[in-house]
Amino acid sequence: MSQFTHNKYPTFAFAPELPNRQWPNRVMSKAPVWASVDLRDGNQALIDPMTIKQKLRFFELLVDCGFKEIEIGFPSASQIEFDFTRLLIEEGHIPDDVTIQVLVQAREHLIERTFEALKGVRRAIVHVYNSTSKVQREKVFAKSQEEITEIAINGAQMVKDHAAKHPDSEWVFQYSPESFSQTEPEYAVAVVDTVCEVWRPQDGQQVIINLPATVESSMPNIFADQVEYFCTHLGCREHVVVSVHTHNDRGCAVAASELAVLAGADRVEGTLLGNGERTGNMDIMVMAMNLYSTGIDPELDFAKMNEIVHVVSECNNLPVHPRHPYIGELVFTAFSGSHQDAIKKSLDRGEAVQWEVAYLPIDPLDIGRSYQDVVRINSQSGKGGVAYILARDHGLNLPRWLQVDFAQKVQKESERTQKELSSQDIIALFEAQYLPDGDLQLADYSIRRQAKQDSMNAVLTQEGRRIEIGGSGSGVLSSFIDGLQKETGLEISVTNYAEHAMTQSTDSQAVAYVQLIINGALYTGIAYSSDTVTAMLRATLVGVSLALEDQAKAA
Ligand code: KIV
Ligand code: ZN
Repeated sequence: MSQFTHNKYPTFAFAPELPNRQWPNRVMSKAPVWASVDLRDGNQALIDPMTIKQKLRFFELLVDCGFKEIEIGFPSASQIEFDFTRLLIEEGHIPDDVTIQVLVQAREHLIERTFEALKGVRRAIVHVYNSTSKVQREKVFAKSQEEITEIAINGAQMVKDHAAKHPDSEWVFQYSPESFSQTEPEYAVAVVDTVCEVWRPQDGQQVIINLPATVESSMPNIFADQVEYFCTHLGCREHVVVSVHTHNDRGCAVAASELAVLAGADRVEGTLLGNGERTGNMDIMVMAMNLYSTGIDPELDFAKMNEIVHVVSECNNLPVHPRHPYIGELVFTAFSGSHQDAIKKSLDRGEAVQWEVAYLPIDPLDIGRSYQDVVRINSQSGKGGVAYILARDHGLNLPRWLQVDFAQKVQKESERTQKELSSQDIIALFEAQYLPDGDLQLADYSIRRQAKQDSMNAVLTQEGRRIEIGGSGSGVLSSFIDGLQKETGLEISVTNYAEHAMTQSTDSQAVAYVQLIINGALYTGIAYSSDTVTAMLRATLVGVSLALEDQAKAA
């Protein structure tokens, strides 16, 4: 029997009373301080945790992206984490403007080991935590609020005492009331107030207070209320850096961090691409790119995004979803006809000072993607997309009447194959449709231009047979058609015509597009040549050959 019953779940009970909330009236105008926890929170959540070599590679990537605060591990938790900390310090991998951070539980022997790992560090953030949430207090530890506060106070004191033994290093203390978002708001403030009494940030000790949504369990606006409540009730608020650390259980980790910044947070912890426990940590790349795409300096550099994605997914041994914001294989791709049309029109309008392209929140080129990704063709696509590909990859600027005609053929082909059509598939289909090797071939021609009317003679071949035609008219094309009508007995008129050079180079090829009505039916012919007149005559012969074939079939 199904167990699917919402009554099983209590309503969220940790929202503060905040009738005067200020955060909804604020806008974000600068990037927060970013702190990567890839090498700890992310690494702990991997099926196969990273090797030291991978951790170093990832660390260097984070430095290259511009992170200034990097949690490198939990040195007291395993030898590998300890050794990695030593390696960074002893081999001098930490740039002067980067501060490493290490995590430790509020327990004596672990804190001692942590400081051992940090010996000789120039500057480090020691991040101590204990769980404060109701569920952890009652179900996991069976401890009262007072007892949990005691753990926090002792942890803070131990960190302070050990740091005092290493005065040559610069110490920043960080405390997390783990599961802050599932902690009663008044109690969370009370615990942190007691930690601050130990650390005394008002006397100059650098302190970060980190507020985790260890398990995301409410809407992001509620988390923002919790953060604003915390910031406006904490005794030493102006002396501490307030940080947030959101997880993605409800899919809103980035939103929660964004709103938390409006609510007063100065700093955001997270991982690149959102790896971390369960559904992951908040994705710093996404939040930073959200700022970037609205004209705010993210203070991180993601220009080499392909390389970043490669290293992150290799170290984490996790694939990237094709729709992952900003970086997924399909996120800049439009299959739908109307989207393709809008993108093509926006791009065709030329370079504006600021980016304004329908359906593309950022310019894919900024992060090393190409416009190749933007338009892809399947049965949902329309004339704009097909025309875009022919122009971009094959130098063919189809006139609108031909775009409409060809798009229908593309759609039919894609429906038939039930597949996406590549650029090569599209040009092959185009040439098969409009540039077939027709019966009639142009061997030679001469034109006589006169004041009132032109005339021309042409030599055609048909299955090795030589045919001479001659005609006159108001221009070259009408003279040629006059000659063809006399030779074939067909009734031919031109409905549409276009031509253009295909490249800017001196040996540029020309292409001509002709649409004819022949004995009442519509025929399209296209031809390439080294000059536009020859291309035009050949394109006309394609159409006439098709009509002759139809006539032969009907006979
Ligand atoms: O999610 C969490 O609560 C953590 C803390 C240890 C900061 O990772
Ligand atoms: Zn976490």
